[in-house]
Amino acid sequence: MKLLTVCLGNICRSPAAEGILADLAKQRGYFVELDSAGTAAYHVGSPPDSRSIRALKKHNIDISQLTARQVCQDDFAYFDWILAMDKANLTNLQRLCPESMQYKVRLFSSFSPLQTNEDVADPYYGDDADFTQMADHLTLLAQHFFDHIEHPHKEV
Ligand code: 4NP
Repeated sequence: MKLLTVCLGNICRSPAAEGILADLAKQRGYFVELDSAGTAAYHVGSPPDSRSIRALKKHNIDISQLTARQVCQDDFAYFDWILAMDKANLTNLQRLCPESMQYKVRLFSSFSPLQTNEDVADPYYGDDADFTQMADHLTLLAQHFFDHIEHPHKEV
């Protein structure tokens, strides 16, 4: 399974989601190919935000080696799921994605049995506490995502 996590800048939420999904896949014994990207190009070539790196270190996950890139057209054919961190990014991805692959583009929280379809809040203008909360939220959503892949519940 190939997964792409997507946020705006690819320095806060989506690299954190990539690291958390990779860690959980390893724990559960899944083979998953993972990458992350941004809908915007502001931070292309940059490492993750130091606050994201720190928040994930508390979960024993190292994302310091990742590098930001922008989403490209090839991503829609290559990946099985393209997981948007919030609804603004979901809308932008849906605009870019060819019709035949729209089904791959999903809000990350849409796999949750709670079906709240909530955004992963953008922590960029926040503080360390916001990044800690982001990491906890992403951990829960990653569990819900893999739970759904293993035992699909009602589609949203
Ligand atoms: P991300 O957070 O989308 O989770 O990587 C942001 C990073 C940068 C900016 C906004 C959000 N920015 O405006 O530069």
